[in-house]
Amino acid sequence: MYSRRTFLTTSALAAAGLGLAACRDVAQAGGATPSAAPARTAALPGPLNTRAIPSSGEKIPVIGMGTSGSFQVGNSAAELDPLREVLKRFFAAGATVIDTAPTYGVAEDVMGALLAEQGLTGRAWIATKLSGVTGREAGMAQFNDTLRRLKTDKVALLQVHNLGDLKTQMAVARELKAQGKVRYVGVTHYVERAQDELADVVQAEKPDFLQINYSVTSRGAEKRVLPLARDLGVAVLINRAFEDGKLFAQVKDKPVPEALTATGVTSWAQAFLKFALSHPAVTAVIPATGKPDRQSDNLLAGTGPDLTDAQRQALIAALA
Ligand SMILES: NC(=O)c1ccc[n+]([C@@H]2O[C@H](COP(=O)([O-])OP(=O)(O)OC[C@H]3O[C@@H](n4cnc5c(N)ncnc54)[C@H](OP(=O)(O)O)[C@@H]3O)[C@@H](O)[C@H]2O)c1
Repeated sequence: MYSRRTFLTTSALAAAGLGLAACRDVAQAGGATPSAAPARTAALPGPLNTRAIPSSGEKIPVIGMGTSGSFQVGNSAAELDPLREVLKRFFAAGATVIDTAPTYGVAEDVMGALLAEQGLTGRAWIATKLSGVTGREAGMAQFNDTLRRLKTDKVALLQVHNLGDLKTQMAVARELKAQGKVRYVGVTHYVERAQDELADVVQAEKPDFLQINYSVTSRGAEKRVLPLARDLGVAVLINRAFEDGKLFAQVKDKPVPEALTATGVTSWAQAFLKFALSHPAVTAVIPATGKPDRQSDNLLAGTGPDLTDAQRQALIAALA
C-alpha cells in the first residue's frame, strides 16, 4: 500500500529547485512549539479544535494529514503544485500534525522539500516512524536519514511502525527522546487483527501515542484499544478514517444523513472524520489527500461540535 505512485530521488527534487530553498529552516525546525496557537482562517467557520496530549498537556489540532500515497509523487510541477496548495491550506487553517514514514517512498523527501520551500518546517508537528528495520544501528541510521530527508534536526513524534522489531525500536525511540531529537514516542498499526497485540504493547510500554485504524465501518478499536488508551493517558492518532478512500464509493449518490447536516456537516468526508473524532479517546485524525479542495473539506471537520451518539448511530446505519 506504500507504493501507489512513482518514487523519485532526493537529487531529482534538488534538480527541480526544491533543494536550495530547503536549507533556510533547518535551525528552527523540529515540530511546532507547544505554545504555538492555531491561526484562524477565513476559509473555516471557526478555529480548528485542539486536544491535549495526555503525557504533556500540549494541545494539537484535531485534523492532521497523512502522506502515504498523496506525497509519493514525481517532480513535475503538475504533481508538486497541488501539494504546495494542500500544505498552504493546511497551515492557513491552523493545522500542524503531519504523519509520514521513511517507507512511504519519497514522501519524506517531498514533504521536507515543500515545507522548507514555504518556510513551514518550523511550524510542522511532524510524526514519522521507525519502519521495516531490525537492530539498534539500523534504527538509528534510518532516523538520521529521516531527519536529512525532512530537512530538520528533530521531530515531534517517532513511532514504531506496525510493531516491527518492537523492543529494540522502542528503545531507539526512547533514546532519541532522551537526546531531545524526539518529543514523543509511539506505536502504530493499520489493521484490526493487530489491535489485541497493539493493546498488549500499549499496556506494557505506555507510549505517549498510539496510531490505529478506526472508521465508521471498522469499529474494532472501540472494544479494547481505545478504552485502554483513555485509561492509561495515551494520545491516539487515527489512520484510515476513510478506509483508504473506499468509504466514498460506498456512499456514492447517497446524501449525508439529515441528523448530521442539521448541525452543519456538509460532506461525507466531514462526517467520516467527525465520526473518528467523536470517540473520547481520540486525539487527532490524519486523512491523506493530494487535492487542495479535499484538504479544505477535511479541515472543516475540525470545527464545530463532535457528533452525538444519535448522529454516530445515524452514520453507522447509513453505511450498514
Ligand atoms: N501506521 C500505519 O501502518 C499506517 C497505515 C496506513 C496509513 N497510515 C497513515 O494514515 C494516513 C491516512 O491513511 P490512508 O492514506 O491509508 O487512508 P485514508 O486517509 O483513509 O484515505 C485516503 C484516501 O481518501 C481520499 N480522500 C482524502 N480526502 C478526501 C475527501 N475529502 N473526499 C474524497 N476523497 C478523499 C484520498 O484520495 P486523494 O489523494 O485522491 O484525494 C485517498 O485515496 C496515511 O497517509 C498514513 O500517513 C499509517
